[in-house]
Amino acid sequence: MADFQEVRDDEEIYEGRGWLPTWWTLMLIAGIVFGVVYVLWTHGLEGWDQEKGYEQEVADYQKQFPEAMNLNKITLNEEGANPLRGDAEAIEAGESHFQSKCAACHGNDGKGRVGPDLTDATWLHGNSDEVVFGLVMNGIQGDQKMLETGGNMPAHNRSLGSTKVLQVMAWLAKMNPSLKTK
Ligand code: HEC
Repeated sequence: MADFQEVRDDEEIYEGRGWLPTWWTLMLIAGIVFGVVYVLWTHGLEGWDQEKGYEQEVADYQKQFPEAMNLNKITLNEEGANPLRGDAEAIEAGESHFQSKCAACHGNDGKGRVGPDLTDATWLHGNSDEVVFGLVMNGIQGDQKMLETGGNMPAHNRSLGSTKVLQVMAWLAKMNPSLKTK
């Protein structure tokens, strides 16, 4: 025990001072070096940062699944009408979006719960594609609200995007002939 200096000896319990094992010291140094390199790396020496990394991942995803991310591919046509009216595929997709995003408030069959019945001929805000598109995309809040009850209607411009909103409206138009193009 040449490099180990005994400092106390209480009833066979020793406390000593000596050098840390070499392997431990090397790991400490390696950890510090890694930390410095890592900080320099993530703070831009290599031109990489979190935001760019995120954008890159989103871009890759969009390339891989163009359908899924292309939320705003379709919008109202020049006459302000829903171009997906009568499109069987759109109607089917629209019904499933309705079930996941609208049914909680408007009922599975669209006949209304806290939100009004969307299958009858009574429209609080108007019965044209243009009006309904605006309502569903931007929601109905504050002064716009016509009902005393029911709370706000949330916007769906992000959660669905214009294409899916128009699919829902294609389904609504099939369910409710009083929803007109104009
Ligand atoms: C959190 C509940 C909620 C959700 C979810 C919701 N709505 Fe509504 N919606 C309402 C309420 C409440 C109103 C009535 C607002 C008012 O007071 O004018 C309304 C009104 C409407 C109107 C106007 C009806 C009229 O008579 O003019 C349409 C159209 C509509 N919603 C469609 C949808 C569609 C389509 C979805 C799904 C994409 C949806 N809503 C999701 C609560 C909701």
